[in-house]
Amino acid sequence: MRIILLGAPGTGKGTQGKFIEKKYNIPKISTGDILRKKIEENHQISKKINEILKNGKLVSDKIVCNLLNERLNKSDCKNGFILDGFPRTKKQAIYLSKINVKIDYILEFIVPYEIILQRVSGRRIHFSSGRIYHINFNPPKEKNKDDITKEQLSIREDDKISSVKKRLKEYEEKIIPLRKYYLEKPELKYFKIDGAEKLSNIFKKIESILNKK
Ligand code: AP5
Repeated sequence: MRIILLGAPGTGKGTQGKFIEKKYNIPKISTGDILRKKIEENHQISKKINEILKNGKLVSDKIVCNLLNERLNKSDCKNGFILDGFPRTKKQAIYLSKINVKIDYILEFIVPYEIILQRVSGRRIHFSSGRIYHINFNPPKEKNKDDITKEQLSIREDDKISSVKKRLKEYEEKIIPLRKYYLEKPELKYFKIDGAEKLSNIFKKIESILNKK
């Protein structure tokens, strides 16, 4: 099963992606997580990537495609995967097809912007695992600690309202050609998901889509 999760920042791609990963036993690959790890590792390009993320811009197609390709070549991707945050441009989608990655499902999350802003302002993440919480909507069992490791949770630098607004604008521009590209492929199962619903209801909807043969 190869799934792409599309949607603006804060629409719940990462959260639902983790549920799908657990239930269907396929890895969730988030290019955002990969890039944040690159920043931490202090590579030559770390500073540049950090600036781009902080400013709500997109990292170049070339860098992201190379990082993704490296990840897809790992053995855990053999039976499928969930792409969270990739592709984000038509060029990235064409790249996937060029390297012969066949996609089965596209799930596009739709959430009104006022809800998105509430969500990102309360988001907390566990950096090393990519687990995602919200201080009100999906709180950890212990305040500010990861449920599994009990390590401290953190706030993403690009979750400041000024960055989020830029990310939303960037998304609006890029999604139009990307959506069109995929909607023109009849072999693909493309679903719009109401991401403003409760976490459990959204996952039920996703399960009903993925369980249908
Ligand atoms: P990335 O990390 O991919 O961020 P994003 O796509 O902007 O998405 P988010 O992670 O913000 O949101 P999400 O939809 O996963 O929501 P979540 O589940 O966390 O990318 C970051 C940056 O990296 C980009 O801006 C770009 O610079 C760069 N980048 C990444 N990929 C790239 C690419 N392919 N090309 C170029 N550049 C790239 O949920 C949000 C919050 O809401 C959480 O707190 C959660 O607990 C809560 N929540 C979720 N669902 C619900 C619900 N149903 N009800 C209530 N609360 C909910």
